[in-house]
Amino acid sequence: MNRIALVTGATGAIGRAIAQQLAEQEATEVVLACRNKEKAQQAVAEIQRATGNPHVRYELVEVAHRASVQALVDRWRGPLHVLINNAAASPRQRQETLEGIELQFATNVLGYVWMILGFSVSLKQSAPARVINVASYWAGDLDLADLEFKRRRYDNGTAYRQSKQANRMLTVAFAARLEPYGVTVNACHPGDVNSRLSNDLGFHGQTQPEVGARTPVWLATEPVGQRETGKYFENQREVRCRFGADTAAVEALYEACLAYA
Ligand SMILES: NC(=O)c1ccc[n+]([C@@H]2O[C@H](COP(=O)([O-])OP(=O)(O)OC[C@H]3O[C@@H](n4cnc5c(N)ncnc54)[C@H](OP(=O)(O)O)[C@@H]3O)[C@@H](O)[C@H]2O)c1
Repeated sequence: MNRIALVTGATGAIGRAIAQQLAEQEATEVVLACRNKEKAQQAVAEIQRATGNPHVRYELVEVAHRASVQALVDRWRGPLHVLINNAAASPRQRQETLEGIELQFATNVLGYVWMILGFSVSLKQSAPARVINVASYWAGDLDLADLEFKRRRYDNGTAYRQSKQANRMLTVAFAARLEPYGVTVNACHPGDVNSRLSNDLGFHGQTQPEVGARTPVWLATEPVGQRETGKYFENQREVRCRFGADTAAVEALYEACLAYA
């Protein structure tokens, strides 16, 4: 049976490379979860051509909108073995979604949460299965009392660092909940890659996207990604995560995110 992998933000620098490296794996079907149809069609065609794998397709989804994620979940048929949460944005000005949620929190944090919650039934039914949350070593400044920068002055670097801290904390929360079902949840730093996101954040990464994709793909395909759960990795090595170790804060953040569900 084919392994089915779903990658969000697969039209971006790192997500596109992740999708291609997964498509290079034997008996693997890859679904690119994208918000832009033209970019998605192009990425699918290029990956099919480069890998010779015809089992590459796309689904449209706006991860910052709960209803759009739910619509994708409702359309989904069959198993899901690997979910890679990777889509992210970091607008320089504070923006809100149509539902009035600060955009970076909605995309980078709630988007991950909604994808995991929405696909948890498929993942459990397909177990052993894995979730990989693409996070970052550049993380911190999370304020549980001001997750949407309503009190703090918005600064996209601070909001981004908060979102990546949240990815790492929520990895621990979901890992505990999904472990009994044979679904692992791990987080990683991909590497500093030149991308729309990194340019919006004011740095221009030097790492090639193909290199940035290695740790997420390693977690998605190698035994370590099924053996370990609730962990954080950089350069294909586990790194102790102080954010995930704060159990009270992890649970408080998890509850805060559920309130948006
Ligand atoms: N680049 C780095 O140096 C670096 C370092 C550490 C961690 N990371 C992490 O790596 C991941 C990928 O980043 P990247 O550098 O590859 O960024 P990127 O090239 O800007 O790609 C971001 C992707 O997310 C998609 N996206 C954004 N908002 C979305 C939404 N609301 N709904 C659906 N898709 C949405 C974008 O879609 P469009 O193509 O339609 O815009 C794009 O495909 C992120 O989680 C980031 O935090 C990156």
